[in-house]
Amino acid sequence: MSKFYVSTPIYYVNDRPHIGHAYTNIIADVLARYHRQAGDNVRLVTGTDEHGQKVARSAAEAKLDPQDFADKFSKTFRDLGPVLGLSTDVFIRTTEPRHKQAAVAMWEACAKDIYKKEYEGWYCVGCELFYTLTDVPDKICPIHKTPLEKFKEENYFFKLSAYTKPIKEAIESGRLRVVPVGRKNEILALLDRGLEDISISRDAKKLSWGVPVPGDKTQVMYVWFDALTNYLTVAGYPGKSFTDWWPMDVHVVGKDILRQHAAVWPGMLLSAGLELPKAIYAHGFIESGGHKMSKSLGNVLAPTDIIEKYGIDGLRYYLLRYIPSDADGDFTWERMELAYVTDLANDLGNLVQRVAVMVTKYFGGKLPAVPDHSHDSTQYHRMVADFRFDRALAEVWELIRGLNQFLEEEQPWKKGDDKAELERILGHALADLNLLATLLLPFLPTTAEKILATFADGQVHSDVGVLFPKVDETPTDDNLDESTF
Ligand code: MSP
Repeated sequence: MSKFYVSTPIYYVNDRPHIGHAYTNIIADVLARYHRQAGDNVRLVTGTDEHGQKVARSAAEAKLDPQDFADKFSKTFRDLGPVLGLSTDVFIRTTEPRHKQAAVAMWEACAKDIYKKEYEGWYCVGCELFYTLTDVPDKICPIHKTPLEKFKEENYFFKLSAYTKPIKEAIESGRLRVVPVGRKNEILALLDRGLEDISISRDAKKLSWGVPVPGDKTQVMYVWFDALTNYLTVAGYPGKSFTDWWPMDVHVVGKDILRQHAAVWPGMLLSAGLELPKAIYAHGFIESGGHKMSKSLGNVLAPTDIIEKYGIDGLRYYLLRYIPSDADGDFTWERMELAYVTDLANDLGNLVQRVAVMVTKYFGGKLPAVPDHSHDSTQYHRMVADFRFDRALAEVWELIRGLNQFLEEEQPWKKGDDKAELERILGHALADLNLLATLLLPFLPTTAEKILATFADGQVHSDVGVLFPKVDETPTDDNLDESTF
């Protein structure tokens, strides 16, 4: 049995979960379920990123102690698990003692590359990142569209520049896969320009909400140094057995945090003498009105808004099928409704219903002999391996549409009492339904389980219920603009 260790980023606790966060979680969940189904020993990890200026500032604005503030918002991310039906194994909070211990151990493991220096830079609290004026001459954050803040203090620095070459080699050789290829090229271009050393601490007098730097109480760790280490914490680092899980098989991240994962993180790991992750998959943004959904832009849509109408699998289906796996994509209610009615209710829901009704009618609910299916799923598996979830689902829908067409052509309802013919046609349909339910398990787990339960133990179970009930009122996209969120 091989192990499969997969992570989501850990979420800042200054925000309530929206469908952007749900998207990252759902992708990681698909990978975890896919590998569990294949018999791997899987650990799916997620959690919350609770230190740093952004959280400290939001807590101050809410007139709450940062820990109380973090407790409150961390819970909303933990609660997202059951809301989305996620199969999370470990939920980590960076304010937990086990994590602080790991962050200190990581700092010490990188000690030879850490030095102190006076620093002046431009900071975006929303990103918790420094920008250079060469990159951002107008001093406006390209992501948050807010003014950058001037920053001057003495910090500890990490000699990231020393690792440009080995990181580049790892990515070029595929030892560290960066997917999709556009993102890989972006990172390679960054590496070609050469990595710069980065500040990895803050003056505790200005920002005390962080993990204290070992041996220097006047400084706390920079939130990204602390946060990235979470992936080791959940493997049990610095305990010896962390290598039972480490290296990470896949880090699922959004494209906005690719640099931290594909440049800073590998540098830290190489410095500490630890193995690099095997793959980093960076998805695009879910947009509304052409902008990334985020609290600071005020265009946020909560997963529950969609789940209430279309169910968990409705949301999962839209995000996985209609947000391109290698690019940004828009959410609109109109397309959500279309996907639900056409693909889910008509193509799939009606198909399952039709076959169940016919088996009941022609065989008294007892399943006829089911032959081996004759479909080749290689392409589906290849698509999952390439992180093309949209195309993997398109493959399954080919199968679904093909089966619908087969029934239209064969017209079993016109076969009278020709049992052999009915058995041939419905046996074939059941074999395909079984296969497609199996292929759908990682993507639409509730739906797939219902399909399998409808035809379990040699008979039809009509009490499983309708797969995709009618949605009464479709919201309009008039309220899907920035002003009304
Ligand atoms: N705390 C850091 C990650 C540290 S990991 C060691 C962080 N947190 S975040 O809450 O801002 O974002 C977490 C994830 O949500 C990122 O992968 C980000 O790309 C994703 N999304 C946030 N908004 C998004 C969209 N509108 N669309 C898709 N995903 C986006 O960054």
